Amino acid sequence: MDQEQYVRRIEFSAATRILHWVRALCIFFLIATGFYLGYPFIIPHSTSEPSGFLYALMRSWHQIIGFVLIGATIFRIYIFLFSKDAKLERTSWKFAFSPSTWIALVKAYLLIGTHPEQKGSYNPIQLFTYFGIMLLILLMSITGLILYAHSYHDGLGGIVGAFFKPLEVVFGGLSAVRLVHHYTTWAFIIFIPIHIYMATWNAVRYPGGGLDTIAGGYRYEKEGHQ
Ligand code: HEM
Repeated sequence: MDQEQYVRRIEFSAATRILHWVRALCIFFLIATGFYLGYPFIIPHSTSEPSGFLYALMRSWHQIIGFVLIGATIFRIYIFLFSKDAKLERTSWKFAFSPSTWIALVKAYLLIGTHPEQKGSYNPIQLFTYFGIMLLILLMSITGLILYAHSYHDGLGGIVGAFFKPLEVVFGGLSAVRLVHHYTTWAFIIFIPIHIYMATWNAVRYPGGGLDTIAGGYRYEKEGHQ
């Protein structure tokens, strides 16, 4: 049996991993409650008492978890931009626009080439995908806050409503904002299974840095790898 020595290095800090899972759980919850808000598929048992506030309950929880997602996303962006633990992630941008890396990477994904040398945490395809998902989360946060401001006119709702009013107009009004918020949900529903498949595929194809990295934080590399 040939033996190979592997060394482990930290790839994702604890904060990055926790924020990954917090945002993943938030998005699952927001998809489920969001679809309920869009099409109430459960009707509370009707009684003579005015107590069937299931829709209001779903909306409150959707908004509460929506704010958790906004908070976690702001913190994640801060870590990516300024934390020394995210240096390897930022390094990924250095190779993001190299045509030779892209060609080699597409060949590797098509199983007709070897994976190009990867210096940062993400290869260019991963980097642009995750950057795209970050932009979608920002779009959901802005459209969600505009919708929120139309439920709560005072306090934070009042401030947010006034701040994003010009954007609401640009979107084409409240119903257009709601539609953008609703349709963008499908981008997450399409992304999630592909993301899980590709992370699993990467873990099987290139042992050392796959699924376990976003839980344990370590990437395992052959000894002597630069
Ligand atoms: C990935 C994240 C999110 C997903 C997948 C999501 C999904 C949805 C969906 C599908 C709806 C129903 C739209 C319709 O009426 O057809 C909805 C409504 C809504 N969402 Fe989100 N949402 C997300 C994030 C947020 C955030 C961050 C906020 C901000 C607080 C938010 C606030 C709202 C509000 C206020 C409504 C309207 C509730 C109502 O009055 O009916 N959402 N969301």
